[in-house]
Amino acid sequence: MDERGDVSRRAELIRPFIVMDVVARAKELEAEGRDIVHFEIGDPDFPTPDVIVRAAEDAMSHGDTGYTQSLGLPDLRDAITAHMRSTYGVTVSAESIIVTQGTSPAMLLLFGSLLDPGDEVVMPDPCYPAYPNYVTFLGGVPVPVRVRAEDGFRFRIDEVERAITPRTRAIMVNSPSNPTGGVLGPRDLEALASIAERHNIWLASDEIYHGLQFDEPSHTILEFTDRAFVLNGFSKAYAMTGWRLGYLIAPPQFVRPAEKIQQNFFLCANHFVQVAGTTALLHAQDDVARMREAYDERRKYLVPALRGLGLDVVTEPLGAFYVFADARSWGDDSVALAGRMLEETGVAVAPGVDFGPGGEGFLRFSYATSLERLREGVARLEAWSRARQ
Ligand SMILES: Cc1ncc(COP(=O)(O)O)c(C=O)c1O
Repeated sequence: MDERGDVSRRAELIRPFIVMDVVARAKELEAEGRDIVHFEIGDPDFPTPDVIVRAAEDAMSHGDTGYTQSLGLPDLRDAITAHMRSTYGVTVSAESIIVTQGTSPAMLLLFGSLLDPGDEVVMPDPCYPAYPNYVTFLGGVPVPVRVRAEDGFRFRIDEVERAITPRTRAIMVNSPSNPTGGVLGPRDLEALASIAERHNIWLASDEIYHGLQFDEPSHTILEFTDRAFVLNGFSKAYAMTGWRLGYLIAPPQFVRPAEKIQQNFFLCANHFVQVAGTTALLHAQDDVARMREAYDERRKYLVPALRGLGLDVVTEPLGAFYVFADARSWGDDSVALAGRMLEETGVAVAPGVDFGPGGEGFLRFSYATSLERLREGVARLEAWSRARQ
């Protein structure tokens, strides 16, 4: 028999999220009195809009503090249906929606109801690290397809097609993207939908950064095909990361399996948070627009500023709140570079390799922080890079 350690192999296979080490070190330095500029965190600096906070307060004081149906409150599921219709013109039945405690648990419901051991999921490299970790944890196999700065970090469709095998179950899509800020346009989504239909596989579309796309409206994958799952949540566009609210829209045959996972593992999402989420969808769209405009202003400052420092931002990021900058002129090892930057300048960034081998040599700058702090960080990096020359 194989020698086994105490810790399960499944847990051993999960890769650490190095940016959390950067966060921990930044906090240590702050505790020692250093001023740290935070470019590393994907957490909106805006407070949750008042109208949402008040809805939660009211709900709590009216006793909305118990369990709800596992699938979620009917009012919230109806509001999601109405949102899908008014935003994208698609009809989604409330019966296909499962409300979750954030987008993250929705990934467990999705991959848990879709994958058997050995099943493959095609995904971009670089991508949000939870995707390969969830797939691996469930016995599946992540199949990375490189996305490149010169393509705006969009898939090359022929490369996606070549990555499909008889074991492929799904293609993961994330537009706007973390970490790249890249966006897939309607033609990309249509081509991916056609691959899914031809190969009888599924698209898994993480739409958590919808609402934070700058020049064009976002498109849901459901405009292009029914062979798709949608993951979404309130963390980013509504500045609600700590509230923990999201949802999965699943094809009919997956709703009951996902519901059974939810019933056993999570029971339901928080009651008063679901009430607040309903208000967010119905009454906070102006707040979303206000925050989007602020992010856009920051983006328009930060991209040229980073280019001015000698970092390469080949194509403009079009959504989310990240710039994925090629930092190879400063160093090839993104973890070492991020570490040195933090120690020597007090500027914290996420190393690109955290998001997959395709991210090595890059640094992710989040602009979920004020323009004033962005300017301070850029000034420090400017002085630092001048001193190194
Ligand atoms: C692409 C992407 N998906 C999902 C999540 C997690 O979202 P939630 O807070 O809804 O669990 C994040 C958080 O950074 C993200 O960037």
